[in-house]
Amino acid sequence: MSENTRVPMAAGNWKMNLGRDSARKLVDELRNLSYSLESVQILVAPPALLLPLVADWVSGSRVMVAAQNMHWEARGAFTGELSASMVREAGATHVILGHSERRHVFGESDDWIRRKVGAALAADLVPILCVGEKLEEREAGRTLDVVGRQLSIALDGVGADDGAKIVVAYEPVWAIGTGKTATPADAREVHAFVRRSLAETWDGETAGRAHILYGGSVKPSNIAGLIAEPDIDGTLVGGASLTAEQFVPIVKSSMKR
Ligand code: PGA
Repeated sequence: MSENTRVPMAAGNWKMNLGRDSARKLVDELRNLSYSLESVQILVAPPALLLPLVADWVSGSRVMVAAQNMHWEARGAFTGELSASMVREAGATHVILGHSERRHVFGESDDWIRRKVGAALAADLVPILCVGEKLEEREAGRTLDVVGRQLSIALDGVGADDGAKIVVAYEPVWAIGTGKTATPADAREVHAFVRRSLAETWDGETAGRAHILYGGSVKPSNIAGLIAEPDIDGTLVGGASLTAEQFVPIVKSSMKR
């Protein structure tokens, strides 16, 4: 596998949180931070209504913006949905796809997520593809089977050129919003497996360029151990991404040593 040229990423998934004023305050701090911290990519995923505003606030800085979801069709009678081109036009460069809340609360299937990955890439959006096992799957020793299935279906039909751009986020469902983090050793095993799967899907060089983030109860107190793992290229952070007090230390600790 080629030398690691991946610039670590600290991504904040705001979910259905933050209004305009609190978002502005947080984004201003992140924008200022981004000027002095070139060795970390900072990304925020606000609620869809805030996308154009946040994109405007970060313009000219190195902070990037993601949508939290999108539909795979380009247009049509899909009440409540957004297309990839709408997300792009709103100023996002990335889109979170297959988040565990989308899969398990809203019933999204692997096949939907595959279509969304294809539509995002076609619209020049970088997919942040979330994968991860539920507690009962981990306890049954099925973690790698589940993650392997989610990856192989979602990436079916994606070529190596696009593969290098993809961001995969490994987020064990039992660690999301629960305060329970996978240990660096738990995460290491799955991240190494994801990297191998990407190499099998495309090739070692492409897999070596793709980012693999960890997500699930990341906080200032556990980021250092996670980021020290060679195959953890950053984090996808929910609760602790909502305030500068918590997210700024996470961003600062995301540099690889
Ligand atoms: P959490 O969420 O950091 O609040 O556990 C992570 C995520 O859902 O992306």
